[in-house]
Amino acid sequence: MAILKILTQENPILRQKAKEVGKITKRQRILVKDMLETMYNANGVGLAAPQIGISDRLVVIDVGEGPLILFNPQITRSEGLNKDVEGCLSLPGRNEYIIRAEKVLVSYIDLAGKKVTINGNGLLARALQHEIDHLEGILFIDHLTKEN
Ligand code: NI
Repeated sequence: MAILKILTQENPILRQKAKEVGKITKRQRILVKDMLETMYNANGVGLAAPQIGISDRLVVIDVGEGPLILFNPQITRSEGLNKDVEGCLSLPGRNEYIIRAEKVLVSYIDLAGKKVTINGNGLLARALQHEIDHLEGILFIDHLTKEN
């Protein structure tokens, strides 16, 4: 396992649309372990592959309920609105109030290659939306002028 370098705001990879993941290979399983270790080491609750320089649709999240590994995640339903403070490992030291959906339903492929769905509320819903944004090249500060 390895702690990976987290790219910061100015890196153009963070602005790219990430690629769909096909078959989950050993390379991806190693990457997942490294991403989790990197996220925990940085005291984050989520990390998207583009943040460590890999433009794949893969995110890891742990809001204190154990690790979640999501390939090709997609929000299929969202409900309500919630405004809370948000930060990002790629924008160290920056925290802003951001409006997000309060609840989301997300479909994704798990580490075993199975298509599953998850219901997120509160912090989990926020983390899911924040990390899925990274796969579209969107940073949380992009929501500031539009919605605040
Ligand atoms: Ni982030």
